[in-house]
Amino acid sequence: MTHGSILLADDEEKILKALGRALQDEGHEVVCAQAAGAARQLLAQRGFDVLIVDNLMPDMTGLELIREIVASTPEAERPQILMMTAHATIESAIEAMKLGAADFLQKPFEVDELLVVVRHAVEQQRIRTGYRYLISEREEDFNHYGIVGRSRRIQDVIRRAETVAATKSTVLITGETGTGKELVARAIHDRSAQRDRPLIKVNCAAIPDTLLESELFGHVRGAFTGATNSKKGKFALADGGTILLDEIGTMSPGLQAKLLRVLQDREVEPLGAERTTRVDVRVIAATNRNLAQMVAEGTFQEDLFYRLNVIPIEIPPLRDRREDIPVLVEHFRRKHAQRIGKTLETVAPDAIAWLQQYAWPGNVRELENTIERAVVLSAGPVIGLDAISGLGAVAREPAGGLPSLKLHPNLEWAERETLRRALAAADGVKKDAAELMGISQRAISYYLNKYRFD
Ligand SMILES: Nc1ncnc2c1ncn2[C@@H]1O[C@H](COP(=O)(O)OP(=O)(O)OP(=O)(O)O)[C@@H](O)[C@H]1O
Ligand SMILES: [Mg+2]
Repeated sequence: MTHGSILLADDEEKILKALGRALQDEGHEVVCAQAAGAARQLLAQRGFDVLIVDNLMPDMTGLELIREIVASTPEAERPQILMMTAHATIESAIEAMKLGAADFLQKPFEVDELLVVVRHAVEQQRIRTGYRYLISEREEDFNHYGIVGRSRRIQDVIRRAETVAATKSTVLITGETGTGKELVARAIHDRSAQRDRPLIKVNCAAIPDTLLESELFGHVRGAFTGATNSKKGKFALADGGTILLDEIGTMSPGLQAKLLRVLQDREVEPLGAERTTRVDVRVIAATNRNLAQMVAEGTFQEDLFYRLNVIPIEIPPLRDRREDIPVLVEHFRRKHAQRIGKTLETVAPDAIAWLQQYAWPGNVRELENTIERAVVLSAGPVIGLDAISGLGAVAREPAGGLPSLKLHPNLEWAERETLRRALAAADGVKKDAAELMGISQRAISYYLNKYRFD
């Protein structure tokens, strides 16, 4: 049995009461309006599954109200409309059906007849909005500490993160760029007993090796030329909390050895210091490299690898968990629409389909950027295929004519980006890139020149 929310509009109180009660007894939620204007106001405030409207009301006819709703609201956001009409005004009912009303009831009718028609309308509405309903209703279920996803593999990641949060064990998070490694690290810290203590992140790739040691462990005044003051290291700053060693795979062998000693002894020795200091820090390391392979190749120290790899968490690339894409899209649509104060209700189904088949080399970060851009660029209430598929939108060269690009003027980046990707995928071979893009050699020369690719 499907229960729905029903807006019942009739100027006769007796009818409102009788029908309202019957519908409620069936389990529906019923709101009554005694005039067309009141119904219109309620519709502006909230959504209903079904609108049952009497045609003859003093302020406005039911038909006029329907015409207005149809003109002002996209179909996906309209309730199912049922019209009640007396025999004399049956033409209005037919007119209403032409406008998109789901059905009509000719007065006098049996309550049972109403219940059947309403049940059917609610079911229709469930089908019509099913897609949106599924995503918007489920998003909360599939959002754990900001980690959004419904695939079994991401659920495994979430479960493991929850388990390890309760411990102080060292964690090694691996995954391609943009898969959410930092997000998971933060979720672990935020769920741990140390969540009120600091989480300190160090990007090992961003800091020159010569500085990284003092960055991690600190130094005392005069430890090296230019060390005019002593400085606390990140390990000391993270004391009692968590340190995230990001891009650990880029660390030099010398520093790897020093880090190993810190992990073994739980003590740090600031540069130039005479003594070591105890630190109580949970270590989370993250990398997009294959450390086991680096160990085999001799570029990553084996002992350090085992010290770090106590609890491994591997985040699969987005293309291997495409079920996550619709929930992620919905999550990012909301986030960015809210941020810029735009009302964007949905992403069109064909746009979702496109997003789901794309390979996402930049993983979730690339998906988020795509949705953010689409939210900013979309003119209407729906994010359409045109707003997101820019990456694949380089048009084919029309037969015999000059190359033409049917693109939104704001989407020049898409041309450039498509070009860049095609070139990367083709290892820089122009002919192959042109083939990937489905354009001629002449056309690709044109674009290479336009965007000054060498
Ligand atoms: N499952 C997810 N749910 C919600 N947002 C996500 C998810 N995964 C990633 N993101 C978002 O995608 C972006 C990239 O994530 P993050 O920085 O954690 O990736 P990363 O694996 O650390 O990338 P890199 O290797 O490039 O450092 C962030 O804005 C993050 O919030
Ligand atoms: Mg990261």
